[in-house]
Amino acid sequence: MSEENFNRRDFLQTACIGVGALSLSGGVTNALANDVKNSGNKQGLPSVDVLVIGSGGAGLRAATAVRKENPNLSVVVATKMMPSRNATCMAEGGINAVTDFSQGDSFKLHAYDTVKGGAYLCDQDTVVKFCEIAGKVVHELDFNGMLFSRKDSGDINFRFMGGASKKRCNFSADKTGHILMHACLDDAITNGVKFLMDHELLEIGVNEGKAEGVVLRNIQTGEIYPVLCKSLVIATGGYTRIFYNRTSTPFIATGDGIAAALRAGLGFEDPEILQFHPTGVQNGGSLITEAARGEGGYLLNNKGERFMKNYHEKMELAPRDVVARAIETEIREGRGYGEGLSSYVLCDVRHLGKEKILKALPKIRHTAMLFQNIDLVDTPVPIRPTAHYSMGGIEVAKFDNISTKIAGIFVGGEASCVSLHGANRLGGNSLTDAVVTGDLAGKGAGDYAKEVSGFTNGEKTAELAKKWQDKFKQIANGEGSANDMYALREELGRNNWDLMGIFRTQEKLDELSRNLETIQTKYENIRIPDTNAVMNTAFTDYVELGNLILLSRCACLAAQRRLESRGAHTREDYPKRDDENFLKHSIVTLKDGKPELSYKEVVTGIFSLDGKKPA
Ligand code: FUM
Repeated sequence: MSEENFNRRDFLQTACIGVGALSLSGGVTNALANDVKNSGNKQGLPSVDVLVIGSGGAGLRAATAVRKENPNLSVVVATKMMPSRNATCMAEGGINAVTDFSQGDSFKLHAYDTVKGGAYLCDQDTVVKFCEIAGKVVHELDFNGMLFSRKDSGDINFRFMGGASKKRCNFSADKTGHILMHACLDDAITNGVKFLMDHELLEIGVNEGKAEGVVLRNIQTGEIYPVLCKSLVIATGGYTRIFYNRTSTPFIATGDGIAAALRAGLGFEDPEILQFHPTGVQNGGSLITEAARGEGGYLLNNKGERFMKNYHEKMELAPRDVVARAIETEIREGRGYGEGLSSYVLCDVRHLGKEKILKALPKIRHTAMLFQNIDLVDTPVPIRPTAHYSMGGIEVAKFDNISTKIAGIFVGGEASCVSLHGANRLGGNSLTDAVVTGDLAGKGAGDYAKEVSGFTNGEKTAELAKKWQDKFKQIANGEGSANDMYALREELGRNNWDLMGIFRTQEKLDELSRNLETIQTKYENIRIPDTNAVMNTAFTDYVELGNLILLSRCACLAAQRRLESRGAHTREDYPKRDDENFLKHSIVTLKDGKPELSYKEVVTGIFSLDGKKPA
C-alpha cells in the first residue's frame, strides 16, 4: 500500500485492528495474538476480554469506558460497517441534558418531561437517575474536545426540542450525532480500543447461563468463526429498517443484536413501541431535524395553515408522536400534497433567515438540496413522518450496569431497553441514552470481566459457528434469485408501514400477522446465486432480512395485544390510554423459535400519572 493512498479505512484496519487481522487460513496476528496467547484458552480460538458489538455512540462509549477503568483488559469493537457510519449520526438536533440551572431547569424537570413525553411507560426511577448522569456527561464530552456550538458567552449552546419544558438540547449545529460519534471514536482509539470492521454478528454463545462468545462473519473474507470473550456488550442499534420503504435510519439498522439476544434467551421489551419522526424528507425519509422546529420552523398544510395549532398547545414542539399523527391526519383529510407514500406537508424555515440557517441548520439545507433539489433558505421543504427509533430493545435487568438476565451480557443504546423512553422518546434523549447507557454497560462489562479467570473451551460457540458455516453453504448455493430476496424485503417494509405504521387497528395487525407468516415461509425458501464467500453482501442482506422478519413478528404480536393508545402506539380502535390494563411493559421471548408474550410492571411512584408537574 503506497503512502499517498493510505486512508482512514486503512488506518482503522491496520493500526487499530484486533481480531480483524484473522486471515482466511485462520491465523491470528498482532494485538489479538497476544490476547489469545494469554487467554488460557486451550483451543486457540480467538478471544478478547471484552467484546463490544456495534460502533455507534453507545458501543464506542462502552469500549472506552472498559479501557479507562481497566486498562489491562483487552477490548475489541466488532462492527459490520466502518466505525463512524451508524445511526448515531441521525440524531442531529442535539443531546438533552440540563447544563444551565439559571432559568429554572432541573434534572427533575428533565425527568418529568421524559416520563410525560413517554406516556408513562417509563420506569420512573431509571429516568431520574438517567437525567442526573446526563448533565455530567455533556460536560465530560466538552472537556474531551467534542465540538459544540457556543453562545456568545462561550458556554455550550442549547435549544428547544419537542416535549421539553425548557431549552436543554445541547447541540453542534444540526450535526450533533455525527460530531459526537467522531469525538467518541477518537477517544476509543486513544484508549487502545481495537476494531474489527466489516464483521457481522450472527449468534451469541451462552454456556451454563453465562456469555461465552459470539459467532462473527468477516464480510470481506467470508470467514465465519467463534470469538470468545469474558463479557459482551451488545450495542447494535435499533430495528427501524423493518419499515424498509420509509425510514431515517441507515441500512444497517436491522436489529441484529436484538435478534441474536432473543435467540440466546433474552427478552425483547416493548417491541411494538416504534417512533415515527414527524419530519422525514418526502423523497426517501431521511431526516429534517426536529431542530428545524426547535429553531422556530413551521409546519404548513396545503392551505398554508400552521395546522399544529389545532393539535397541541406546544404546536410544532409537541412530542413527536403528536406531531407525526397530526401530519398524517392532515394528509388523510386532504390537506396535504401529493399521493400515496409520497404525500407530504411542508416544513418552512424561510423566516429564520439565511444567516441563522447556515449557522444552525446547514446539514438539513444540504439534505433538502440532495433529496428534493430545493434550497430551504427560499423554499419550504416537503416532509412526512419516517420510522426513526426503536423505543423497545433487549430487556435490561439492572440500570446501574445495564446488565441482562444472562451473566456477562451487557447492552447499550438503542439495542437496549432500560425503560427510559417509554412509549415515545423525546428528541435529543437518544444521544444522551447512547452515552449514558454505553458508559454504564462498559463499566459493568469491565467489572464483570475482571472477575472472570479465563475463557471456556468455546464448545457452544464453536457449535453455533459450525451451524452458520453449514447454513452459508445451504443458502449461498448458486440457486434462487437475489431479486426474490430484495422483493421480499420490500414486501416486509410495505406490510409493516401499511399495517403497523402510525395508525394501527386490530384488523390491520391481524392481517400483518398472517402476512408475516407467509413472508417467513418465503424467506425459508430464499437461495442466493452468489456462492463466493468473499464480499458476499447478498448473504449479509439475507441474514439481516431474517432478523427483520423475526423482530417484525415480535412487534406485531405485542401490538396486537396492546389494546390501548399510548405514545407512538396509536390504536384507532382503542383511542385511549388504559393504565388499568396496560401500564406494563411487553416482553417477548422465543419458544421453539416462536415469539411468546408476557408482561412486566412499570416502575411508577415519582411522578403522578395525571400529567401534573412536580413541585
Ligand atoms: O430530529 C432530530 O434531530 C433527531 C434527534 C433525536 O432523534 O434525538
